[in-house]
Amino acid sequence: MSESFRDVAVDAARQAGAFLRSRFGTRPAVSYKGSPTNLVTEMDRGAEAIILDAIRRRFPGHSILAEESGALAGSEPGAEPYRWIVDPLDGTTNYAHGFPIYGVSIALERDSTLEVGVIYDPSREEIFVAERGRGATVNDAPLRVSATAALGQSLLGTSYPNDIRAAPRDNLLEHAGLMHRCRSVRSIGSAVLGLAAVAAGRLDGYWEQRLGPWDVAAGALVIREAGGTVTAVGGAPLDLAAPSITASNGLIHAGIVEALKEVASER
Ligand code: IPD
Ligand code: CA
Ligand code: CA
Repeated sequence: MSESFRDVAVDAARQAGAFLRSRFGTRPAVSYKGSPTNLVTEMDRGAEAIILDAIRRRFPGHSILAEESGALAGSEPGAEPYRWIVDPLDGTTNYAHGFPIYGVSIALERDSTLEVGVIYDPSREEIFVAERGRGATVNDAPLRVSATAALGQSLLGTSYPNDIRAAPRDNLLEHAGLMHRCRSVRSIGSAVLGLAAVAAGRLDGYWEQRLGPWDVAAGALVIREAGGTVTAVGGAPLDLAAPSITASNGLIHAGIVEALKEVASER
């Protein structure tokens, strides 16, 4: 794996994060993507433009899937096996309210295999980086998932679909069910930073019912390279085309999956 893929991803994430941080707290104008709880701001678009420019300048032939721009073909469509997957601002609702939990997520896949994952947390100035087969780091220190072996002693994360008022799987019963089976459940409003927290052993697990590819691509690789396990919510292989996610330190993975199934069967 060329070092430059990693370097371009790190540089783009840092640039976008610096842009977001520099304007944090200014309450950007909000518009809505199809639902009154699905927000987008000029900051999402501004951060995305920075990332797309950084990738295209270096790798014009690569294709890109970016949350606000959709699927973008490279300058030689079909000629390149590489696809970048970009969430320029994860935690837009937090950001728009001045709540400082938000992140930038950039992944690169080759022939549908995740090769590079980078997550940047501008508030804590933490950069999480993984390359397939080479491990994962945060600010250059090795990352390792937690050693918590019992679901009952775990701290988990989750969050809710942006269109929750219309969502058939709103995750509320699951949240309540898991709350009674672990130490506690945190909903921090950024799937990307929730997954980074699993990789760092700060959370023992994370699940969410309905996400976009850009929410999970980088985080999945960072967690795997930190020794953790990532599947779809019910335990099947993660599907980036229609993701739900259960991510954990591996030790409590089956426990989370089973608990979610139990809750679902009680409906
Ligand atoms: C959202 C956040 C949120 C999660 C939603 C995501 P966005 O991403 O990660 O925590 O619950 O499912 O869509 O819209 O802020 O990039
Ligand atoms: Ca997101
Ligand atoms: Ca986003």
